[in-house]
Amino acid sequence: MAAHATSDEVHDANVRYHDLAAVHYDAKWGIDYGARGQSQVTGKLRKALGEPLLPHFGRGLEIGAGTGYFGLNLAHAGVIGEYVATDISSGMLDKLGDSARRLELDIHTACCDATRLPFSDGSFDIVFGHAVLHHLPDLDASLAEMRRVLRPGGAIAFCGEPSHLGDRLAEIPKRAGYKISPAWRALMRASPAVHGGYHEAPEEALLEQVVDVHAFTPGALTAAGHAAGFDRVRVRGEELAASLFGWANRALEATAEPSDVPRLWQSYAYHGYIALQAVDRALLEPRLPATVFYNLLLSARAPD
Ligand SMILES: C[S@@+](CC[C@H](N)C(=O)[O-])C[C@H]1O[C@@H](n2cnc3c(N)ncnc32)[C@H](O)[C@@H]1O
Repeated sequence: MAAHATSDEVHDANVRYHDLAAVHYDAKWGIDYGARGQSQVTGKLRKALGEPLLPHFGRGLEIGAGTGYFGLNLAHAGVIGEYVATDISSGMLDKLGDSARRLELDIHTACCDATRLPFSDGSFDIVFGHAVLHHLPDLDASLAEMRRVLRPGGAIAFCGEPSHLGDRLAEIPKRAGYKISPAWRALMRASPAVHGGYHEAPEEALLEQVVDVHAFTPGALTAAGHAAGFDRVRVRGEELAASLFGWANRALEATAEPSDVPRLWQSYAYHGYIALQAVDRALLEPRLPATVFYNLLLSARAPD
């Protein structure tokens, strides 16, 4: 947790940061709600659950749903029947609602904190999320609350959580990208970004230092799952080569005005990332320990 920040301060910073970020979030992260997005999220969920074929989940609850990258794509792919999206940022949930309407998906949203879910006991088949656990100041209370709303035998699945070592490794391409960015911008004929790109408010950069409260080791995530009373706790690692490549490119792109980044570069960055994801999946993830990867995936079951 950021030095001296209380849980309430982290909560308020997350609301403000994500309300501001909602405006450019999908563009910044290249979020897609078509076949590409669906294949990404179903692949991640399969990996998290360790199931080659995904079952159908009747009622699914997402924690920290943001603009809907994970849950909308899962609902659109038919993996989840009734989709309930929660978040503490109403700005994010408004964007999610807009996308759900465009996709003609019937969904429910609730603006609430992960530690206080306004749902009855045992009312969901799966509770899931992407890139959210590391924002939760009281992870133990949040996991206990998720367990409360899960039916016996129901699943939790969380993807995209930063690993402690992966976070430190990512600093290398980030710094290298930043260092060579003037030469890269000259090559791309791109002008320097106003306020860090994507027209981010200057306040966002300050809040960003408060909103991330954890980077996990696989052992710590496993222990948190057990402490909350879950069975069959499973932690896997995902993305090494892809994340190093992705962070170098992201560091370069963040220094330029988004509209100046040439299409050809965007296509190279995207296809390179997808190709390296395949290398990670086929060669590195089956062989290396979870701890070296950038992302950790957690799944577990509520006791039967
Ligand atoms: C990095 S974003 C990820 C959004 C989305 N899951 C995705 O992958 O694009 C983290 C989300 O978690 C939400 N969040 C942060 N703290 C939270 C809390 N205490 N309870 C519920 N949601 C929270 C934020 O508002 C934000 O939308």
